[in-house]
Amino acid sequence: MIEAEPLLASLSADLAAVTTPTEVAAVRARYLGAEGSITRLGKRDFSTMSKDERRAFGSGFNELKTRADTVLKEAAARAEASKQAAGPAFDLTLPGADRRQGAIHPILSTQIEVEEIFRSMGFEVFAGDEAVSEYENFDALNIPGDHPARDMQDTFWLENGMVLRTHTSSMQNRAMRALGVPLRAIFPGRCYRNEALDLTHENTFYQLEGLMVGEDVSVAHLIAVMRDLLAAVFRKEIQVRMRPGFFPFVEPGFELDFRTTLNGVERWVELMPCGMVHPAVLRNAGVDPDRYSGFAFGLGLTRLAMLKYGAPDVRLFNSGDLRFNEQFRATL
Ligand code: PHE
Repeated sequence: MIEAEPLLASLSADLAAVTTPTEVAAVRARYLGAEGSITRLGKRDFSTMSKDERRAFGSGFNELKTRADTVLKEAAARAEASKQAAGPAFDLTLPGADRRQGAIHPILSTQIEVEEIFRSMGFEVFAGDEAVSEYENFDALNIPGDHPARDMQDTFWLENGMVLRTHTSSMQNRAMRALGVPLRAIFPGRCYRNEALDLTHENTFYQLEGLMVGEDVSVAHLIAVMRDLLAAVFRKEIQVRMRPGFFPFVEPGFELDFRTTLNGVERWVELMPCGMVHPAVLRNAGVDPDRYSGFAFGLGLTRLAMLKYGAPDVRLFNSGDLRFNEQFRATL
């Protein structure tokens, strides 16, 4: 007949040696699986047995299967419970996966800061295009095709005759037409020139143009606005001085310098060209120069960011080198 006890004893011994639900399932397969030792017992030749023998075998076999199944189910439940008690299969106290946080580029953060300062002075931000007409970039600004000033801005020409703007002054005409006068506006953005690269020159750079046009706008307004701007950027009073400068679209034109300490030495540092908007530029935008006057300036944002952060080489800003950029994360 069926030798049930030794089989059940061996099953119990096997189960005592395992702990996880997976291991219990493997033991079940060895006994009750398709090729399991208990299953195989049932596959025998019944033709040699009498009817009574068959009946006795059948009930013994079923009882063995039921008891084995019960023990296996209990073992599986125990294994599952101890797995739950052990908690999740990861260590909650480990530090989380490091999600690297992006940051705003130092030139853009300088731009945003300067925009805020100008907004507080009643200027609006007028966005422009990087590809503009030759007229907007030159002619409207009193720089006709044969003017030598064109040579100062070695220009990238597009196949359709437009240009990559060489300065944000290219927005002056459009802004005066779109916004009308009186107006106070700034136009920040990227400009392009075919420059020879060095410590302070890049073929791609950022300017922030300012334009204020009204009935009595004078050089005094220009100086006052610049001093307020510098005081806000550097968080202290800053001395400025004006030198004559030539640009066909301003009259008079200036270079504005400010007093600062560079490498431990106090000195004048050139900050931006500026001037009173030339009557021809006003006229080109449909503004009456006998009634209105205005000032314009072209702040070099890249230059300002260099001064603000003490960066020694302009090329670092566009280098894409994270070791450079990441130093400014804390300033945002
Ligand atoms: N657009 C000039 C330049 O980039 C700067 C400038 C702007 C000068 C406004 C005067 C007034 O060189």
